[in-house]
Amino acid sequence: MIKFLFPDNFIWGSATSALQIEGASDADGRGPSVWDSFCREHPEKIYQQATPEIACDHYRKYAEDVALIKQFGHNGYRMSISWPRIFPSGQKDFNNAGADFYSRLFDFLLQNGIEPNVTLYHWDLPQYLADNGGWENPATIDAFVNYSQKCFELYADRVKLWSTINEPAWTTLNGYVTALHPPCRTDYKAAVQVATNFLVAHARAANCFHSMNKPGKIGIALNMSPVYPATSTPEDIAAAELADSIFNAWFSEILLKGKFPQKASELYHKAGIFPNISDSDMNLFENGNLLDFIGVNYYYPHYATSEAAETSFHLNTSGNRNESCMFSIEGLFRFVKNPTGIYTDWAWEIKPEVLYDLLTKIHSLAPGLPVYITENGIGKNETLTDGTVQDDDRIEFVQSHLEAIHKAISAGINVRGYYMWSLLDNFSWINGFKKRYGFFFVDRDTMMRFPKKSAHWYRNVAQNNGF
Ligand code: BG6
Repeated sequence: MIKFLFPDNFIWGSATSALQIEGASDADGRGPSVWDSFCREHPEKIYQQATPEIACDHYRKYAEDVALIKQFGHNGYRMSISWPRIFPSGQKDFNNAGADFYSRLFDFLLQNGIEPNVTLYHWDLPQYLADNGGWENPATIDAFVNYSQKCFELYADRVKLWSTINEPAWTTLNGYVTALHPPCRTDYKAAVQVATNFLVAHARAANCFHSMNKPGKIGIALNMSPVYPATSTPEDIAAAELADSIFNAWFSEILLKGKFPQKASELYHKAGIFPNISDSDMNLFENGNLLDFIGVNYYYPHYATSEAAETSFHLNTSGNRNESCMFSIEGLFRFVKNPTGIYTDWAWEIKPEVLYDLLTKIHSLAPGLPVYITENGIGKNETLTDGTVQDDDRIEFVQSHLEAIHKAISAGINVRGYYMWSLLDNFSWINGFKKRYGFFFVDRDTMMRFPKKSAHWYRNVAQNNGF
C-alpha cells in the first residue's frame, strides 16, 4: 500500500561532486584546484589529513558507478564537472582529454536511462585563477562564463538540467568568514563581494545559456538553512531576520525578485562593505529570467540569538557528539542549539518539517517555479558488517524529508525531484572520509562499493514512485 505517491516523472536520484569522488587529480592533463593545494599545504585543517587525490576513484570506476545507479533504480543523477579538467588553468587552455571523460559519462548515463543534472562549479576553482585573486577578481567571472559556454557547446545535446554554482553562500562563508575552507580568510568586505560575484557569474552564465537556444533548463543549487529566533524577544527576532537576510535572502531574493534584501543591504551600506556591481549586471538581475528551476540543498535550520559577545566559528569535524558547532559575529547574532532538537553526531539538527516551510517560502517568492531538492542527507560514522551497513537512521532521515516534500507537492508546490546526498561515501571536505553519506559504502583500502540497507530501500521507493 503506497501512502505517499509522487507525481509521474519525479526524479529519484542521488548527488555527488567531482572533487569529492573523482580522484585521479592529475590524470589526463587536469590542472590543480584550490582544494588540492589547500589539502597539501594545510593537512592539519582536514580531519586525519585526508586529501581528494584518490577520493572514490570514480574517474576510473565511473562505468561501475553508473551500473550501480541503474541497478538501484535511480532515474536521475546530480554531479559536477571539474573546471580544471576542462581548462587546467581555468581560462583558455582547453583540455580535450578531460572533456572526453564527461562525454563518455553522459553517454553512459543516458544509455542507462539516467537523466544527468550537472553542476558547473562545486568549489574546485582552478588554482591559477585563485593565484590571481580568485572570486574577488571580476576576471574569474569572465573565465567562468567562458568555461560554462564551452560546456554548453560540448554537452547541451545530452545534458538537459544545468546548475551553475553549488552553494554560493556556504562556500563564501567558509572561504571568507570562518576561514575554514580555502582561501581561509576572515574579511567581511571580500565576503560580500565574492558572494555577489557568484550571483553575477550565475546571471551571466544563465543568460549565455538562454542566448544559445539549446534545449534544457538552467538553475542554481542554493544551500538554504532557514533561521528562526532562539526566543520570542524582539532582539532575537531581529537577529534571526538579519541572519536570514545575509545567508538566504541575499541569494534567493536577488535571483527571484531582482532586488537585494533590505536588512542585509542596510547592514552592508552601514558597514561600508556594500559590493561593487555594474549597472549592466544589475540590469541582468532586474530583467529576471535567471532561473528555470531552483535547486535546494537542505540539511538543517539555525536558531539565532542577539547575544553575541564575541566573534567565533567552529565546525564539528570529528563526529564526536559533544563537540558543538559555533557561529557568532560580535554584536550581530550567534547561532545556538535547539534544546529539544535531535542532532547528528556532527551536531547538525535533524528537522524535516523545516523543509516544508522552506519550500512554502520559495513558492511564495516564485509561485510554480520548478524545484529540485539537489541535496539532503545525513553524515554518519559507519563500518561494514557482513558486506553491508544497517543504516536504518538514514532510511528514517530520507523518508521523513520525503514526507515533507510530499506534503509540499500536495499543497501545490512544484517539486520535481530529489537527489540524496550522496551516491557514495566520499571526501567530506574538512571532515575527511570519516563522515559517510552514501547509499554505497566505499571501502577505503580496496575502493569496493557495498550497498547499504538504505540503497535497497530507496530502490523500492523509486520503483513504486513512493512509499
Ligand atoms: C553541502 C555540499 O554543503 O553539503 C556537499 O554541497 C557536502 O559538497 C555536503 O559534502 C555535506 O557537507 P559535509 O561538509 O558534511 O561534507
